[in-house]
Amino acid sequence: MDREYIAAIKDKLSTQLPKKRYEHSLGVSYISSALAMRYGADIYKAELAGILHDCAKAYSNKELIILCKEAGIELLEDELKSPSILHAIYGKYLARKAYIMEDEEVLSAIRWHTTGKADMSLLDKIVYIADYIEPNRKKLEKLDSIRRLAFEDIDKALYEIVKSTIEYLDKENVYINSMSLACYNWLKEKGSGY
Ligand SMILES: [Fe+2]
Ligand SMILES: [Fe+2]
Repeated sequence: MDREYIAAIKDKLSTQLPKKRYEHSLGVSYISSALAMRYGADIYKAELAGILHDCAKAYSNKELIILCKEAGIELLEDELKSPSILHAIYGKYLARKAYIMEDEEVLSAIRWHTTGKADMSLLDKIVYIADYIEPNRKKLEKLDSIRRLAFEDIDKALYEIVKSTIEYLDKENVYINSMSLACYNWLKEKGSGY
């Protein structure tokens, strides 16, 4: 366990992200650690994935498209249609390049924190949920019950978040990424909603 590495990441990140976004990242890191304790995941990796998950969030979507191109990351049409996920795609690359993060489990949790996917790992689930429930999050409907559920049944909590996110996007007429739908169907098939 290398506390110095985490301290160095925090120092750098605090200069790269707006204050509010940095505070959110600390919140996600804190809750990711707590969920890792609850479910027996690696606490150190959860802390790191939480702190780094939005490391590319300071860029605009336009900038992210250019940066992905420069990095040789090919974007699918499905990804371009949901620009809010671009920071997760480029974030994985940036975490590796700028923060020397080489752990594939941590990188995966960064990559999938916006949409989820089918067959998420425990760490993927933890960061996805922590992003939604961390203490700085604005009060959403059902947030209290989802916060409680997150520490009782991780798959049920995940299902509730994915479901309400898809319902919200649908209501707002926003394109729903195929990975979000894959995640939702995977959870439904597993029976996580019941
Ligand atoms: Fe994010
Ligand atoms: Fe976030």
